Amino acid sequence: MQKFIINGGRRLRGELDLQGSKNSSLPIMAASLLCCGECMLRNCPNLTDVYAASRILNCVGCRCNFFDNNVSVDSSVVEETTVSEDLMREMRSSIIFMGAMLGRTGECTVSIPGGCELGPRPIDMHLAALRKMGVDIRDNGGSIVCKASSGRAKGAKINLAFPSVGATENIILCAVTADGETVINNAAREPEIRDLCDFLMNCGADIRNDGESRIIINGKQQLHGCEYTIMPDRIVAATYLSMVAATRGELILTNACIPEIEPFLSVLEQTGCSIYTSEKKIYLRSGSRLRAVRDRIRTMPHPGFPTDAQAVLMAAISAADGTSVFEENIFDCRYRHTDALIKMGADIQVLGKVAVVKGVEKLHGAKVEATDLRGGAAMVIAALCAEGNSEITKICHIDRGYENMEKAVSLLGGDIRRN
Ligand code: UD1
Repeated sequence: MQKFIINGGRRLRGELDLQGSKNSSLPIMAASLLCCGECMLRNCPNLTDVYAASRILNCVGCRCNFFDNNVSVDSSVVEETTVSEDLMREMRSSIIFMGAMLGRTGECTVSIPGGCELGPRPIDMHLAALRKMGVDIRDNGGSIVCKASSGRAKGAKINLAFPSVGATENIILCAVTADGETVINNAAREPEIRDLCDFLMNCGADIRNDGESRIIINGKQQLHGCEYTIMPDRIVAATYLSMVAATRGELILTNACIPEIEPFLSVLEQTGCSIYTSEKKIYLRSGSRLRAVRDRIRTMPHPGFPTDAQAVLMAAISAADGTSVFEENIFDCRYRHTDALIKMGADIQVLGKVAVVKGVEKLHGAKVEATDLRGGAAMVIAALCAEGNSEITKICHIDRGYENMEKAVSLLGGDIRRN
């Protein structure tokens, strides 16, 4: 089992080129199933979750290859409609293959997916929406067996009770080749949804999505392949910005997505660091000790503060001047990193969905275990600003979302080693 060994206390300085978005790559790889031809996806990050998606594509008969951040998918032949339980359990996002398989073949058999432990992550909204689109769904001893009654799903009006990212993606994937019009009300507005729609429109899909909460789709008989560049990863951007801010350093992030990361930047700015943006670049300078964030940090669906950036910001301000308050509104168990931060000297009290973070003078190194993807990244941040050595185990969680994190940190002058 690999671990990171970090010697904290150095100011990080330098320039980083942002990786492509994991949360865009995965649904777009699933979407390539619908294309009955070849797709070339550029700027795909080198991540274990991306490899898992490519294994699913190969298992159903596509030919998927990964080289230099490019993924080629040939989906001319799809001969298998069952995704094995092992593959499904590798990552939570495997569930979006359900919509894509249904859109391509009218049937699929999948199981409940795996992924980060963020409390109960049900898929009731996914299933209810697909049922409304004429898909018969049965639980067959742990497997979910889905079949569109007439061999093709049909358009429907779907009102989501909550703007779930995954449910919105599954509906879109099923609807683009369904019979008739689908309207999704209260759809998720995350930028990755827009990226998925842009990809599908390049493949010939008819989608009206103006970035607001209603998406209208007219099903087409067939889509075609295309070449597409995945958007930059706004959560990885938030992570490196938090990391450098916490070490009182300086960062130039290139290939960044400015409007998409604005909800995070406006909060980070309250810590007192200077942030400038120009086309596709973010400059950050943090000369002195950070200040606590004065407004309560409430995680909300986009364009609110992203839940995926909660842990990394918390690590960054755990040694700031003053008290910050977080409110986690998306997932139930998203404070699992706090025990590790406390072990490193942070003063954090969790009461239900609220976490009160009293800035301490200094953090100190400790042996901790990554609990989940963003929680693990938060521990790296804390270790980099702590005094002394830290060891972070179970970094397989971190590898699910960060391309070679130790290389990026070393490039900025951090003392980190993978063992
Ligand atoms: C996606 C992101 C994840 C991010 C999250 C919220 C990917 C691969 N993952 O996850 O990084 O943290 O959006 O921005 O893109 N829910 C239900 N029933 C459902 C579906 C969801 O109750 O059928 C609940 C979930 O338990 C959770 C909330 O809705 O509490 C948000 O989930 P959702 O938006 O679906 O997140 P994911 O798509 O799983």
